[in-house]
Amino acid sequence: MKKLKRWVAIILGSLLTIILVLVLYVLLVPLKTYEVKAPVIKVSSDSISLAEGKRMAVMLCQQCHLGKDGSMSGALMEDGPFGTVYSRNITNHPEFGIGSYTDGELAYLLRTGIRNNGTYTPPWMAKLPHLSEEDIHDIIAFLRSDDPLVAPSTNTVPEPKYSFLSKALIKFGVFHPLEYPGEPISPPDTNDVVAFGRYQAVAKWDCYSCHSLDFTKLDVMEPEKSVGFFGGGNPFEVEGSDDVILSANLTFDQETGIGSWSEADFVRAIKTGIKPDKTMTQPPMTPFTMMTDAEAKAIYAYLKTLPVIHNEAVK
Ligand code: HEC
Ligand code: HEC
Repeated sequence: MKKLKRWVAIILGSLLTIILVLVLYVLLVPLKTYEVKAPVIKVSSDSISLAEGKRMAVMLCQQCHLGKDGSMSGALMEDGPFGTVYSRNITNHPEFGIGSYTDGELAYLLRTGIRNNGTYTPPWMAKLPHLSEEDIHDIIAFLRSDDPLVAPSTNTVPEPKYSFLSKALIKFGVFHPLEYPGEPISPPDTNDVVAFGRYQAVAKWDCYSCHSLDFTKLDVMEPEKSVGFFGGGNPFEVEGSDDVILSANLTFDQETGIGSWSEADFVRAIKTGIKPDKTMTQPPMTPFTMMTDAEAKAIYAYLKTLPVIHNEAVK
């Protein structure tokens, strides 16, 4: 009996020591920095690239980076379980913004999440691992332009304060940088409407990450392997209340998805926010007003090819 007690004490003691070491590791050891293996690129900025770059920046970056001065000068983004996080000043200011980044460093950050100082931006900064080389170049061309959205701003935001949870997720590799693609990514074939639609829904406008079951169960490198791919149910806090809103099921289930929607219903809902029953989509689903009809129709055609998911939770 005595022996047993001693063993239990030793095992418990060892477990407590291990937990203590892990906690101290998360709390005290600084987050690691990475080598920046930025490609050497120089983007061209003709009027077509700039216009496309602006369309992407407005639909993909502005919602997080827009500052009080009306340019993309950064703002408080999240003050919750992940800590206090600010988006950053990404205007052309050489000191306060991203004027010191090279084109290659921007491409490297947008694909992998590694900044030009080697630090890693966790999942709350967008990553574009599947975007075509051409589209990445267009975003960079826009970030370099003299558009008022990116005109040099001296706004500064505080450094992020990551919570214990965030630090643990980063240190144990749940949140980690993505690989930079070995070969340049080609644009989709515009004559293949389903492939073009997949590109819009997965690579470009990132519909799948909100519209699958759970942000923590996404497969970013192989999106189709995400749990509940396009079946909805991902919870979002409703601003100013304790309520939660679930993302919609975009598979063609008759009862819980968009199986009864026509192509015209779908195009109108994503471009204007008006659903077939005349109600409006709620935040965080904001209308994609700058999306072309061809893109919206292609997304519809693509979603129609997906395995149907019946999701009672989002009925
Ligand atoms: C969901 C919110 C969100 C979206 C969308 C987003 N970002 Fe960010 N971005 C952030 C946050 C938050 C940080 C800071 C991360 C940190 O401090 O860990 C950041 C950091 C950056 C940085 C690093 C700046 C520096 O000082 O090193 C750049 C550049 C950037 N974002 C560009 C973009 C571009 C371009 C887009 C659109 C393609 C975009 N972001 C979309 C939230 C976002
Ligand atoms: C930031 C997360 C987010 C992104 C990105 C997003 N959605 Fe949504 N979407 C939601 C949420 C949450 C709802 C449920 C709210 C509602 O219906 O009012 C929704 C609702 C919808 C609806 C209404 C469906 C129904 O049955 O009521 C459609 C259609 C839709 N989204 C399509 C898209 C498409 C297409 C994209 C990409 C171009 C997209 N969404 C990107 C979060 C998002």
